[in-house]
Amino acid sequence: MSLSGWAFSNLAFERDSAAPCRIVLGENQGVAMATRPYEIDEMISAKSIAARIEDLCRDIQTEFEGTDKLVVVGLLRGSFVFIADLVRELDLPIEVDFLEASSYGDGMESSREVRILKDLRGTIEGRDVLVVEDIVDTGHTLNHVTNLLLSRLPARLKSIALLDKPSRREVDFKADWTGFEIPDEFVVGYGIDFAQRNRNLPYIGKVRFTE
Ligand code: PRP
Repeated sequence: MSLSGWAFSNLAFERDSAAPCRIVLGENQGVAMATRPYEIDEMISAKSIAARIEDLCRDIQTEFEGTDKLVVVGLLRGSFVFIADLVRELDLPIEVDFLEASSYGDGMESSREVRILKDLRGTIEGRDVLVVEDIVDTGHTLNHVTNLLLSRLPARLKSIALLDKPSRREVDFKADWTGFEIPDEFVVGYGIDFAQRNRNLPYIGKVRFTE
């Protein structure tokens, strides 16, 4: 998640610490914090994720039963692991597309302005669409993306997020399906990063700073 969500809410902690570190933003956002030693405690196992995906896919199949083709849209980069597991569990005709959004500008505080960095390759007018997100934090990203995609007049549009942090919400948004509700912890793994690290962990872990 780079500096989104948890990290922004904890910048004060960084500033107040005995050994404050420089906050580097833009392409290197989060690098300074990532140089601080940390360990990762498993929070949600790979087995639990797989079991939850099976349940979710049953619901999604019921919702989209009879579809000609479901366009499954992954939000880059964090959703790449989730969407890979999700589509392999879905017994529906599907097409995969990707969209990249960035909710944070170059300032230290979140601009809450969502920018589209990479748009869909295909059109979705009159199509069934499922938007796949790794985590809903403030809600700005998925709220903006679903409104954008709705303006393109899909037949049906639903959203799914593996993780949801309702305590961090700033806009009134809830995905149609959620894998796990979690407290306001800094999580990594299963596609989610800390300064671009740890996306390849097969489970969701909680970052614990050791210094
Ligand atoms: C993270 C995450 C979501 C978004 C959630 O993306 O993957 O897309 O933040 O935050 P929000 O609910 O507060 O909008 P990030 O911008 O870190 O990019 P990434 O997916 O490439 O890690």
